Amino acid sequence: MLIVPGSNFRTHALELAKKLSAKILDVEKKIFPDGEIYVRIKSTGSNIREDTILIANTMYPDQNSSLIETVLIKDAVLNMGGRRIILVVPYLPYMRQDKVFLEGEPVSANVIINILSEGIEKGITVDVHNPEVLKDRRWTNVLVSDVLVNAALKYVSNPVIIAPDKGAFERARYGANTHGLEFDYLIKERDRVTGNVSIKPRALSIEGRDIIIIDDIISTGGTIAEAVRFLARLGARRVVVAASHGLMVKGAIDKIRSAGVDKIILADTLGVKYNDPIIEYVDIIDKLKDVIEEVTQK
Ligand code: R5P
Repeated sequence: MLIVPGSNFRTHALELAKKLSAKILDVEKKIFPDGEIYVRIKSTGSNIREDTILIANTMYPDQNSSLIETVLIKDAVLNMGGRRIILVVPYLPYMRQDKVFLEGEPVSANVIINILSEGIEKGITVDVHNPEVLKDRRWTNVLVSDVLVNAALKYVSNPVIIAPDKGAFERARYGANTHGLEFDYLIKERDRVTGNVSIKPRALSIEGRDIIIIDDIISTGGTIAEAVRFLARLGARRVVVAASHGLMVKGAIDKIRSAGVDKIILADTLGVKYNDPIIEYVDIIDKLKDVIEEVTQK
């Protein structure tokens, strides 16, 4: 197996290569003075035509240029005669625009999946926002809420796993079930007379309970901070937050910290890691390795 790393995922790709006994093909990358990207794969002595080629990149930070870099690498591999291409992209950008919410909008998630799927045999990602967008069976969505909950369990006792909304329920259920824990999701309700918004769990009482909130993405931290405040008002004891993709933009870490969170557990899916004592990263390379082995043996 040959691995062609994108610049956001090079360190992870080196680790994957060790675990899969694969060879890394270096990529020469240049940025032209006008900002355009140039890539060239150095394939000396490799059998690109016969081997399985893993193109591995993740698309945060710099979603737009990572996307272009990845599709340029893919085209280069195809031009060199590559036939068995497996694309590994732990963080797929634009996935939250998964339908037309307002007339005139694109379905960005479909656009990105279509561009990436062209010419590949399989795609692998981690905890995509809405798995429906991968309905094409060429893609495997790797849930990591089991390893997130495992890491969070150090900080809580007999916790309830809570999804901040119904859309995140499946990942909460998976994380909870692998550890035999209770799970629920939050329902947001607006009082039609006062306009006040309240959030409460669908079924479980959380009074006096420890909580692990599970979500796919933390971006500005607004969703999580709001959920934490409501859970505290409902009597939650200790709250730990876990997410598959911690983008942590616009002061998200401080926002979540000041909502009263003890720990933020993040899967190591991005090309950036934040150095803050509240954050703990969970390695997902072994999970990726298992899925890569599974899909390449089919
Ligand atoms: C929304 O449906 C997603 O699952 C996340 O909850 C959301 O994108 C998080 O964004 P933010 O951290 O900005 O609230």
